[in-house]
Amino acid sequence: KYEKLWLSVGTGSLIVFLVILIITGLHNGHTPAASGREYINPDKVDQIEPFNKPGLHKVKGKNYDYELVFVASAFNYQPGNVEIPKGSTVKIIATSKDTLHGFNLPGTNVNMMLEPGHISEYVKKFDKKAEYLIICNEYCGIGHADMKSMIKVV
Ligand code: CUA
Repeated sequence: KYEKLWLSVGTGSLIVFLVILIITGLHNGHTPAASGREYINPDKVDQIEPFNKPGLHKVKGKNYDYELVFVASAFNYQPGNVEIPKGSTVKIIATSKDTLHGFNLPGTNVNMMLEPGHISEYVKKFDKKAEYLIICNEYCGIGHADMKSMIKVV
């Protein structure tokens, strides 16, 4: 007599379980962060635009001239060295593939935290010839102190 009852209880909880699984699955696919920024999967950064093409890209119809895309990972930045034409307004767009990294241009206002799963952006005009070191100012492991890159304004 009880077998039927247990069978329906079992089936019922299985359905409830599946529904929960589907709901959380959909939710995780598109999780807005506290700041409203969209979550991107750090393991798939190389396949996600614009991070599938790190480097300097000319843009049209925006209030800046270039997008400069950086991917940070222990212990380097992609691209390594970048040249920017003098007078350009550049939107720096960066993320991390693994752990928390910094993105600091000493002597400027550019000082970002690169969190895996999130996109950090900063718009800056480079109006004089200069060389800017990019340094990681978040401790990220044994190679932290050597984690550097360079922006040359030419
Ligand atoms: Cu990357 Cu410290």
